[in-house]
Amino acid sequence: MHKRIEVLATREEIVRRSPEIILSKMEAAIQSRNRFTIALAGGGTPKPVYEALAKQDLPLDQIHIFWGDERYVPPDHPDSNQKMARSAWLDRVNFPESNIHPMPTGSGNPQVDAEKHDRQIREFFGVAPGEFPRFDMILLGMGDDAHTASLFPFTDALQVCDRLVTVGNKDGEPRITFTIPLINQADCVVFLVAGASKRSALAEVFAPTGDANAYPSRFIQPQGELWWLLDAAAGEEIQKS
Ligand code: 6PG
Repeated sequence: MHKRIEVLATREEIVRRSPEIILSKMEAAIQSRNRFTIALAGGGTPKPVYEALAKQDLPLDQIHIFWGDERYVPPDHPDSNQKMARSAWLDRVNFPESNIHPMPTGSGNPQVDAEKHDRQIREFFGVAPGEFPRFDMILLGMGDDAHTASLFPFTDALQVCDRLVTVGNKDGEPRITFTIPLINQADCVVFLVAGASKRSALAEVFAPTGDANAYPSRFIQPQGELWWLLDAAAGEEIQKS
């Protein structure tokens, strides 16, 4: 794993910097594999990044969009991560619908939807059960409790190692989430973290000791590159260390 931490002055700097990294990975992936697979994050920090991507001239036919997690709501619900990315980016550029691979949330049973999406991803990448596909890039946010995707502290989802997608649990509410081994298989994982409320969780994620189940982001140790793009408010402690 190649780890890069950038502490940028402001949240706006994260918005400026992220597309540079995304575009350079996109170019390399398209050059070598003719396509770029990216999983998006929910939350407030990535939204302006998607708005910035909407202003770029990108090879949309070669980009495939997935999500690292989804709230268990219909796609047009205000809390839907899919809806957020569509309105901030995909709908603005008429993104080809066949290249958008949302997490299903419509069966009424989160477990059924998680299994369905597991199969959909396997089919897309052509990987057999037991194997993990490699996304070119996975974008992640981090909550004040150090959760990432919908991998919350001390929840069952943290233990799942034989599936790509599982059911997360936010205070009793189900969500659909990528599993830790799927995220860790990625070529490049980029955390986007801003705001002073993330400071103490970040210090714990970067600490060498303690129970990682309390700070799920610590489990993210991908095969390829791991980027932490932090604003100064979030990264103050990290900057000092
Ligand atoms: C979600 C996210 C979640 C998010 C963090 C950070 O669906 O809510 O995937 O993991 O990234 O909670 O959110 P902010 O960027 O809003 O701080």
